[in-house]
Amino acid sequence: MKDLRRWLYPLLLAVLLLPPMVQTSAQGEKQSQGALRGFQVNSQRLQQTLDKLSEFGRNPEGGVTRLGFSEADMAAREYVMGLMRQAGLAVRVDPAGNIFGRRPGTENLPVLLFGSHIDSVPHGGNFDGDVGSLGALEVMRALNEHKVATRHPLEMVVWSNEEGHHFGKGLFGSGAAAGVLGPGILERRDEQGVSLADWLRRYGQDPARFTEARIRPGSVAGYLELHIEQGAVLEETRIPIGVVQGIVGINWWTCVATGFANHAGTTPMNRRQDALAAAARAVLAVREEVRAEPSRQVGTVGYMRVEPGARNIIPGRVEFPVELRDLEAAKVERIWARIRERFATIAREENVEIECVPLAADQPARTDPVFQQAIREAAQAAGLATRDLPSGAGHDAQNASRFAPMGMIFVPSRGGISHSPREFTPPEEVANGVEVLYRSVLLLDAGLKRTEGGIAGAN
Ligand code: GLV
Ligand code: MN
Ligand code: MN
Repeated sequence: MKDLRRWLYPLLLAVLLLPPMVQTSAQGEKQSQGALRGFQVNSQRLQQTLDKLSEFGRNPEGGVTRLGFSEADMAAREYVMGLMRQAGLAVRVDPAGNIFGRRPGTENLPVLLFGSHIDSVPHGGNFDGDVGSLGALEVMRALNEHKVATRHPLEMVVWSNEEGHHFGKGLFGSGAAAGVLGPGILERRDEQGVSLADWLRRYGQDPARFTEARIRPGSVAGYLELHIEQGAVLEETRIPIGVVQGIVGINWWTCVATGFANHAGTTPMNRRQDALAAAARAVLAVREEVRAEPSRQVGTVGYMRVEPGARNIIPGRVEFPVELRDLEAAKVERIWARIRERFATIAREENVEIECVPLAADQPARTDPVFQQAIREAAQAAGLATRDLPSGAGHDAQNASRFAPMGMIFVPSRGGISHSPREFTPPEEVANGVEVLYRSVLLLDAGLKRTEGGIAGAN
């Protein structure tokens, strides 16, 4: 704590020296509107790129379907890489498909990394990931425009396949960078039967070099990610900037209930092995067990695949996923153990089998206090109020925390809606977040120093 305080005074000084000065006295209502005056980043320039990006994978009902490793994603990546080159960044793609764009620093220091993702869920929106990715690009452009030199080299990153829809593994690119992906991940196939390895080839990469995507701890000074909140806390409290305290762990299982498909008219009710009836009870059991403990943990069954799937056949097989999320890994384990017991009881009573296999487990991560404080200071300097909050959504930042200290900035989401075409954050609120990212990068660039064990506050 003492070290932290010693580090904050130079930080405060750096804030005061950031050109040009912004009014730090703006409070209350004015704060939630954002003090656009004096912003270093260019909101209009940013919005133009966000609008263009939203054309890749656009859906008629609005929003996009731009799954990681798809034609739409590939085209969007080309667009973003073009913008990165125009901004003078040295662009490279690692063997996991992550895109990096480097701006040199003046000292021989590890890079400061910031970015997000541009892939989406099916029928997703135009803000999840896009804001942090093109926000990172806008930071680079603004630094160029204002001829700001940094001590650390800066890199923006666009992580590959964050949502993980068709390979059952989210946070893919950052997972490769963190070295947490198990063997066999590249053999997973999408709905067309194309393997992840083949997709990497289509993206110009050699899957045999996949492990080279790993980022060594200590080689990155820190990681920052700007993102929409995807919940309603900031909007409801009218606070423009969220300082993320931690990111939930996300655990996925695929479960299959196996009964016996039989004639719906001739099989008496007491002789049925109805896989769907069992799966329906299982869905409710998940909800009950998640709710059985107080606090913010969540659990979801997001789909069911029923076979054979006809009105007059008793369902013989149902596949359904279980997703559990919390900041505490032990709590997830505890709830999952109870759910499994409930599934065993249901299976017995319904005369079916229920089997679940783990598919993915992304560990929860805490953000670094030094990075949290830098974000608060940056927001204050931009005349923007902040609030600390946890992230219920998963982010590549949780993998980045395995190789570097990490922080995350949130901006409000209208109505708390996300993973939906109705996802929306107004341009001025996006700009608030990008300005805070810009200033946080500069504060951390000024304040971080390298120690033997990694990074600490300068003193
Ligand atoms: C990622 O967007 C997730 O939280 O599912
Ligand atoms: Mn998402
Ligand atoms: Mn996201």
